[in-house]
Amino acid sequence: MLEAIKQTAAWIKAATNDFTPEVGIILGTGLGDFGEKIEAAYVLDYKEIPGFPVSTVEGHKGRMIFGTIEGRKVVAMQGRFHYYEGYKMTEVTFPVRVMKLLGIEYLFVSNASGGINTSFRTGDLMIITDHINLMPNPLIGPNLAELGPRFPDMHNCYDKELIAKATAIAEREGIKLQYGVYVGGTGPTFETQAEYRYFKAIGGDTAGMSTVPEVIVARHMGVPCFGVSVITNCGLSDEIGDHEDVQRQGKKAAVRMETLFKAMIKELK
Ligand code: HPA
Repeated sequence: MLEAIKQTAAWIKAATNDFTPEVGIILGTGLGDFGEKIEAAYVLDYKEIPGFPVSTVEGHKGRMIFGTIEGRKVVAMQGRFHYYEGYKMTEVTFPVRVMKLLGIEYLFVSNASGGINTSFRTGDLMIITDHINLMPNPLIGPNLAELGPRFPDMHNCYDKELIAKATAIAEREGIKLQYGVYVGGTGPTFETQAEYRYFKAIGGDTAGMSTVPEVIVARHMGVPCFGVSVITNCGLSDEIGDHEDVQRQGKKAAVRMETLFKAMIKELK
């Protein structure tokens, strides 16, 4: 496993002339256009990267963009791997481990999710303050001790300093933010009404099908994480979950998310 991660990282380093990104960014459903904001130096299709799985979901491009935003070196993933696609958790999280070996010091994640906090509205941006994992844990199996501890601490899972920075930027830029707990389920079904109520009862504010495995693996390696969720539907209303609507809502909120990510990257220490 570790050998495969190292081999892929070495292959990418050679293909990108030793590009060393400071920030890894994972772009969620409908949020891939942020990739166009990067002054790209290298673009690699997942298909051509040895060891990478291939993305199958509509609306997800499968490529890594290496370049600069506000003069800072980043790598962005347009398209991620979901557990519901049939990948193993080690495959879902493989790119995060590779990005760490490439040098990332921060991980920024974004996703589309269903609001279960009744004060949330479709199109809102939610800063993820914490998560509840209802998927298999990606660290199950032999521990990769070179990457991190057997029993990683999950306090400050979503970095408090980064959240404070986001709050300050949003105030300055006039961006409305919500804050809350992301509940990660396997999908691919959207939740039943009873399941949305259950997620709410256990302390969730939104429901989604990604992000949690990637963040767990990043925290295992000690990488500070920042997560933003676009509320694309409200689970406890009578509306019906629909992937196209999720993509549409993602696009509408994308501009605000881009402003936030750009300003945050500019102001990183
Ligand atoms: N549930 C799970 N995942 C989602 C949802 C939802 O309601 N909306 C967008 N992604």
